[in-house]
Amino acid sequence: MSRSAHPAGPRHADVYPEGHYTAPADDLNALDEKVWARTVRRNEEGVVSVGGREVTRLAEEFGTPAYFLDEADFRARCRAWADAFGTEADVFYAGKAFLSRAVVRWLKEEGLNLDVCSGGELSTALDAGMPAERIAFHGNNKSTEEIVRAVEAGVGRIVLDSFQEIVRVAHIAQERGRRQRVQIRVTVGVEAHTHEFIATAHEDQKFGIALAGGQAAEAVRRALKLDGIELIGIHSHIGSQIFDMAGFEVSARRVVQLLAEVRDEHGVELPEIDLGGGLGIAYTSEDDPREPHHIAKSLTEIVTRECEAAKLRTPRISVEPGRAIVGPTAFTLYEVGTVKPLEGLRTYVSVDGGMSDNIRTALYDAEYSVALVSRRSDAEPMLVRVVGKHCESGDILVRDAFLPADIAPGDLLAVPATGAYCRSMASNYNHACRPPVVAVKDGAARVIVRRETEEDLLRLDVG
Ligand code: LLP
Repeated sequence: MSRSAHPAGPRHADVYPEGHYTAPADDLNALDEKVWARTVRRNEEGVVSVGGREVTRLAEEFGTPAYFLDEADFRARCRAWADAFGTEADVFYAGKAFLSRAVVRWLKEEGLNLDVCSGGELSTALDAGMPAERIAFHGNNKSTEEIVRAVEAGVGRIVLDSFQEIVRVAHIAQERGRRQRVQIRVTVGVEAHTHEFIATAHEDQKFGIALAGGQAAEAVRRALKLDGIELIGIHSHIGSQIFDMAGFEVSARRVVQLLAEVRDEHGVELPEIDLGGGLGIAYTSEDDPREPHHIAKSLTEIVTRECEAAKLRTPRISVEPGRAIVGPTAFTLYEVGTVKPLEGLRTYVSVDGGMSDNIRTALYDAEYSVALVSRRSDAEPMLVRVVGKHCESGDILVRDAFLPADIAPGDLLAVPATGAYCRSMASNYNHACRPPVVAVKDGAARVIVRRETEEDLLRLDVG
């Protein structure tokens, strides 16, 4: 059934309000493995577990709301990406999706590199022992202080985003007697099929230097003249939550074309190209993400083919998946506080978190799944909207979903696929305390980011 169609059939009420939902699954107790972390299971009584730990116990021990992250799944996904690209390419995990010391250690152990885009991410990476040469530093407006720290730490590359930054980084490195390895981020003019706010390769936005009009070629010209920097390649990131490989194909083709122009003009073959991140994950059963080996195969083939056509040596490829690694590995656990049926409309189920722990629904109209995880229920499906406890009506976590009609205060709900861009974009709106991140593996659960407390909030308030 299409996502905009209204469900029909004997099990459901005749009329549902306008919405963006599919018919309820035949069995609401079933957990679609596409959207849940790999070790998530439901037992006979209907209690869901992750990493061998039941959510009812986890809620008692760590409270709600809380993010539970399946460490084995995270590590497996790292390995899948590393294996898919092999020794011919480099995988940089995009720390903006979610970063903590534990994550940095896992990445290090699993052989991944790390992309950071702020001083805060850089210090987390270095503090947890990521070797500086395995770090890439991004951002469209890095401060002088951030550049100094990155250069002095010896990061493997800085991705330059503007003409000013080319000079700035070169100057800072030269003053310190360094030659900083850099890439130039270009905008390739691709309209990625994703939400406007997370598409980044069309020309009218803040990132990168446009290939159009010869801007990127001019940036390369300038960069090659400066002693403080060594230009090692070209970078392109077309957007996020993308399923269609066509955008990457156009992007790779245009970047290779620039490499050929650079070779023709300067006699230099730049050795690297970075195609960014952006690969989509399943938030609902409707989404069909690609496996890393498919992605690796198609990206490598495209680049190799284009390079052959341009008679270029194939550059070393790198990619920067964030969401595709961490997104599916976590769910957010909430407790139901109130259930409010609105006659002829829908039922609002309020939980103890909201837009402060997941802003994505409000910001991007993101779609999520939700399940009752503390017990089994064979009650009829009921159309619900899962909302938070914040003071605005846009505080929606799951816009349209089906839950069993006997849902009640005290039940635990879990929203899967919240590993990426949820804790990392969490806020203190309404002085909410940001939830903890708990890593679960082989029957053991440990807090990797603790719950914020009211004391933490008051400590910042020094008036
Ligand atoms: N590389 C660069 C240069 C990026 O800007 C990004 C994401 C990535 C890699 C990783 O993209 P991923 O593989 O995670 O899609 N807050 C939005 C997503 C913003 C993405 C920003 N840049 C969301 O919640 O959907």
